[in-house]
Amino acid sequence: MSRASVAGRPRPSFAGWLGKTNDITRTFLSAGRIPGLINMGGGLPEPATFPVAEIARIAGEVVAAHPGEVLGYGPIEGLPELRDALARRFSGPTTRLTRENVFITSGGMQGLDLLGKVLIDEGGLIAGQFPTYLGALDAWRPRQPSFRNMQLEDPAFDAQAALAGAQFAYAVPNFSNPTGRMVDLVTRKALVDAAHRTGTWLVEDDPYGLLHYDGDPLPRLIDISAGMAPAPTYAGPVIYMGTLSKEIAPGLRIGWVIAAPEMIEALTMAKQGSDLCTSGLTQRVALAALEAGLIERIQPTILATYRARRDALCAAMQAELAGWFEWEVPVGGMFVWAVARDPALDTDLLLPHALDAGVCISPSSVFDATGRNRRAIRINFTLNEPERLAEGVRRLAVALTKMQARRS
Ligand SMILES: Cc1ncc(COP(=O)(O)O)c(C=O)c1O
Repeated sequence: MSRASVAGRPRPSFAGWLGKTNDITRTFLSAGRIPGLINMGGGLPEPATFPVAEIARIAGEVVAAHPGEVLGYGPIEGLPELRDALARRFSGPTTRLTRENVFITSGGMQGLDLLGKVLIDEGGLIAGQFPTYLGALDAWRPRQPSFRNMQLEDPAFDAQAALAGAQFAYAVPNFSNPTGRMVDLVTRKALVDAAHRTGTWLVEDDPYGLLHYDGDPLPRLIDISAGMAPAPTYAGPVIYMGTLSKEIAPGLRIGWVIAAPEMIEALTMAKQGSDLCTSGLTQRVALAALEAGLIERIQPTILATYRARRDALCAAMQAELAGWFEWEVPVGGMFVWAVARDPALDTDLLLPHALDAGVCISPSSVFDATGRNRRAIRINFTLNEPERLAEGVRRLAVALTKMQARRS
């Protein structure tokens, strides 16, 4: 936004990047308040899966047991016991993690934001898997980076060429947001190998790793990396990021970064100028929940619920949208990525018609750094019950028909 004047008086202005962004995240985080709207736009979990009684009990207990700690300021890097618990959780036969490898963030989003602060110089180059998570683009946009498009599914993908010269590479290997796809093992190994050879940081953003509905999981990039260069404390180039948002509940705002100690040091400097520390209350709740095995207890219900919803959405799409879009059934995550058969179909234009018809979806332009990919939509299947998903898809078909009528 440029400096403007009203009645001859200069007005205070905003940073330039604000004029180059979008507010789609605000749209779907607030869509739940619009009466009757079916929100299939955001990556929102089903609130009925939240372990309400356990969290209430644990919260009461930790306030009583650790009042000074949960209500006071805490260490910037996070609660030491929670860092230890996460180091244990993510250690493996060759992945040796200590507290120095673990950093607690206020949600996964803060990890992305702080990474931008410590890794991106003005105009720096990021190698990204596209289409990519719009929150990552939002986090890094103020630094005005440039992007190199890593086409991880292209058989000719050359990981070393993709990473060379970039300040870091960013991927969501498990059930990517927005496409729901999984990066295969060969490409995982190639990315890690290229990160080691070129000395490029490789960000593995993994909020959906546990939301796996069919087939077997693949190794994490950080585990592959640790196997390539064993060390008593992990010191490689992979920066692994996780969150409790999809494993327990997003309102806890607990995320983590697992990386070489030098990266944890840098993030600590950045968080010092951000929120000082993550809530001591929710860190203590997270620690108690991890120790009590809460994630393992609620996971079967989450998986059964989401698997059934994925199937319901895909069945409804087959009935109503197959003439308009094509898609793959995702094996995990929260989304179906549907690409229009007609290359001229503009999903930015579809969004207002969809909202008019009472359904919210995300258009592909927001997952593209250039905003030029306008041919696809991301549809969430975790928030709504099967009947509502079917109704949302019917509304989308109505919106498409109306938009088509306008065009012809
Ligand atoms: C790929 C990816 N990374 C990070 C996040 C951040 O999640 P949170 O800040 O809720 O932990 C999300 C949320 O949807 C996501 O999809």
